[in-house]
Amino acid sequence: MSKVYPVKPEFAAKARISKEDYERLYEESVRDPEGFWGRIGERLEWHRKPSKIKNVSYDPKNLHIRWYEDGELNVSANCLDRHLASRGDKTAIIFEGDDPNESRHLTYRELHAEVCKFANTLKNLGVAKGDRVAIYMPMIPEAAVAMLACARIGAVHSVVFGGFSPDSLAGRIADSTAKVVVTADEGVRGGKKIPLKANVDAALERPGTNSVETVIVVRRTGSAVPMQSPRDRYYHVLMEGQSADCPPTPVEAEHPLFILYTSGSTGKPKGVLHTSGGYLVFAGFTHEMVFDLREDDVYWCTADVGWVTGHSYVVYGPLANGATTVMFDGVPNYPDTSRFWNVVDKHKVTLFYTAPTAIRALMREGEAPVKKASRASLRLLGSVGEPINPEAWEWYYRVVGDERCPIVDTWWQTETGGIMITPLAGAIDAKPGSATKPFFGIRPAVVDAGGAVLEGATEGNLVIADSWPGQMRTVYGDHQRFVETYFTAYPGNYFTGDGVRRDEDGYYWITGRVDDVINVSGHRIGTAEVESALVSHPKVAEAAVVGCPHEIKGQGIYAYVTLIAGEQGSDELRKELVAWVRKEIGPIATPDYLQWAPGLPKTRSGKIMRRILRKIGENQPDQLGDISTLADPSVVKNLVEERLIK
Ligand code: PRX
Repeated sequence: MSKVYPVKPEFAAKARISKEDYERLYEESVRDPEGFWGRIGERLEWHRKPSKIKNVSYDPKNLHIRWYEDGELNVSANCLDRHLASRGDKTAIIFEGDDPNESRHLTYRELHAEVCKFANTLKNLGVAKGDRVAIYMPMIPEAAVAMLACARIGAVHSVVFGGFSPDSLAGRIADSTAKVVVTADEGVRGGKKIPLKANVDAALERPGTNSVETVIVVRRTGSAVPMQSPRDRYYHVLMEGQSADCPPTPVEAEHPLFILYTSGSTGKPKGVLHTSGGYLVFAGFTHEMVFDLREDDVYWCTADVGWVTGHSYVVYGPLANGATTVMFDGVPNYPDTSRFWNVVDKHKVTLFYTAPTAIRALMREGEAPVKKASRASLRLLGSVGEPINPEAWEWYYRVVGDERCPIVDTWWQTETGGIMITPLAGAIDAKPGSATKPFFGIRPAVVDAGGAVLEGATEGNLVIADSWPGQMRTVYGDHQRFVETYFTAYPGNYFTGDGVRRDEDGYYWITGRVDDVINVSGHRIGTAEVESALVSHPKVAEAAVVGCPHEIKGQGIYAYVTLIAGEQGSDELRKELVAWVRKEIGPIATPDYLQWAPGLPKTRSGKIMRRILRKIGENQPDQLGDISTLADPSVVKNLVEERLIK
């Protein structure tokens, strides 16, 4: 039996949602989605109010997902202009730099002015409604300014995480045919510089990137970087003399807001497309309810804007709600491992949202670095990105939150736009390791491999039986891939790619990906991407990549590599291949283990049996199952003997 942490009466007394509210509203939300989401949609300011709320078909032959479709709005006006009268002088963004001496506050009025000026800048550069703008930035306010400026003129942003390599950036630029890239001279993380502009230069030398007309460079470190005329322009120069008046362009609710690339089980990363109205309703509503948001909260989500968490819960959700949101450009262990808690004290953070990987890494340092800080301002803690192991949950609760703060373990995905399964701290008792219950309007179901819906306490694959406003609408430029990836395996449902267990209380326990996606430190890496990076090395004949257990990262990357004839595996070559993958994709894809494989286990039709490789990587050689169907069962013996985790 897992431990239960009942709702705290002190918290429940003031909470937005009580136990009774949850039951009642949840029931209503799934019985009458149109009525429910119609009402919730009113939280936004619409240029034209929607009369049609939901128009969805999950039929693969006619797949479409539309919410509020005849409504018109502007996302940046909802995040900024709407608040000016009542919250103009309220802090919208608290910026905390990598250097603990660097921080800055921007009020809603200041942010509004900056966004308008940058929107005018983009317009002057010829960016029009529907054009794509790539954003490759550190965690500085200008990243949010660029996102909101795109939204203001109906341009579509594609934020690329600053840790991605020039090749990864180039692929994303090419796929979205971006007209402009917004970047910085350099980033700084943990005291180390990241050559962002140089990476953009390298990316733009790759084929397929000549859609880019302008590169806008924010001065972050002030280092001299080569500027190509007329392509490269400094942000501060372009902004000089721009008008701070830029009327927001009303767009249809289904107008694209952004593309965000994420890894799938096959091929190159998919461009997940989110649209304007439904996305903002969902991001704002979930943010308010899940974090039990109050007017005077200081909210800090540690995610980078390069990931969906940074989109929905650093920028759009909080700003749509008129909240104060912290943007942190540093890391948890610089200058030392008290950093998170010092920042909490410095800015009096009340709501704190981070990933299990960070908690596990800090847990290893013991309690002292946490206890040095007061953390008295905190009132609620959140977790996102991967399953949180109960030990880490307990530590987060006991040491970080002093047993005072409830924890919300939020399950969701890039594709879902916002939080889907989560406790509401005033309504749902917590069980460490479980994301607990569905959010309003979300209908999770558990299916077996054949698609049969399983009832009661059970285990299987997680699907969502009906649409919600924040759902992705398509894979950019490849609608068929959208249909095949999410709506074909279990007809009538959205397939999440996750496995799940539902317990006797109806609580959901995510067990991890059931496809070939690895979740490294809460970031998704496709095994296929790492394999294709490896085989692009001239000495590699073949590669197979699987996930393996990793104490801090949750999952690590385990690669099996077959070299071309005549090549010998050596430590030196191993280092070279690891460095090669880092260069091809980025440091987050660094293989943790690389084993030489004279042969890979394949079926007679040539398919690699990953199940076997996974078991070897997990150090469970006695659980390989049936290997008699392999074309050459003898390869397994060598792989087991030479395995790297024993
Ligand atoms: O496997 C689930 C895991 O992260 C995947 C989604 O990754 P991504 O699209 O990068 O979005 C991460 C941030 C929302 C999911 O398919 N995941 C995310 N949150 C949780 C989780 N697994 C367990 N518990 C969570 N709270």
